[in-house]
Amino acid sequence: MVVAPEIRKIGIIGLGSMGAGIAQLAVEAGYEAIGREVTAELGQQARGRIAHFLQRKVDKERMSADDRDAALARLTLTTDLAELAGCDLVIEAIVEDLGAKLALFADLEEVVRSDAILATNTSALSVTEIAAAVAEPARVVGMHFFNPAPLMPLVEIVRAELSSSEAVEAAYAVGERMGKHPVRCHDTPGFVVNRVLIPLLNDCLRVLDEARVSPEDLDTAMTAGAGWPMGPCTLVDLVGIDVHVHASEALYEKLREPRMAPPPRIVAMKNAGLLGRKSGRGFYTYE
Ligand code: CAA
Repeated sequence: MVVAPEIRKIGIIGLGSMGAGIAQLAVEAGYEAIGREVTAELGQQARGRIAHFLQRKVDKERMSADDRDAALARLTLTTDLAELAGCDLVIEAIVEDLGAKLALFADLEEVVRSDAILATNTSALSVTEIAAAVAEPARVVGMHFFNPAPLMPLVEIVRAELSSSEAVEAAYAVGERMGKHPVRCHDTPGFVVNRVLIPLLNDCLRVLDEARVSPEDLDTAMTAGAGWPMGPCTLVDLVGIDVHVHASEALYEKLREPRMAPPPRIVAMKNAGLLGRKSGRGFYTYE
């Protein structure tokens, strides 16, 4: 596949916490970015979050006010997929639903140039299965960012079965320009980090019941005893309990290892709408 000679404009589809974080990285790295949400209101909320985090950098003298303004000016918003026509790279960060992603990629291919790269930020679905939605799967790669995207240094650059080397290397270069530490890997369930982290977090959650320990004490145990930057309950609340349950189920479906399956306790939390930080309540309560 021939890829665009230079990535100048990046489209981001879905401006939830991951998509907004990726859009922030794009404009901070000097790319033109266009973010697509389903409503103008959701787009504005994402812009507000990005403006808030950039302002914090200005307050801490890590960014000038001029650079903040220039970064925000590079971000446009739309609700219309057709406006992504001029993008050299589009990064999808919508809901983790294979059907929704397949429909989106099929629509997207109708809109973008033939040399545009299409990336998915999926955390646990197969990039190869998503790429099957398009006529030219060579253009599809995974770019898996970690939550919170602006702070976590890693991005996994995922090669699907039919990804072209040009698309993989172009995505890797974008990750580097965003200031990340990209790693290349193949499209296996959970890629690198989630293959390890998901069963580990599920073990932690099982220990809550087995050791009859409180979420606070489990978090203290893993931060003070294992050097984790945040405890497992805080981390699952940050990632989103629905996202964690979905990733666990997706890995369990592919690998059939019992440790991958989400513990019943967390499935019950998801079903009750306790989704962590984003819903105001998970293992902890948030303002
Ligand atoms: N976006 C942008 N900027 C943000 C932000 C966000 N979401 N959250 C915080 N910031 C900025 C803020 O401006 C903040 O400064 P102020 O408080 O002065 O405003 C600044 O970053 C620093 O924030 P913290 O003080 O909270 O930073 P910290 O030193 O405590 O580190 C952390 C925070 C990097 C998140 C650290 O706690 C950590 O590494 N935690 C582990 C996170 C992790 O493991 N993530 C991976 C989850 S798994 C995943 O994502 C995979 C998947 O597919 C589900």
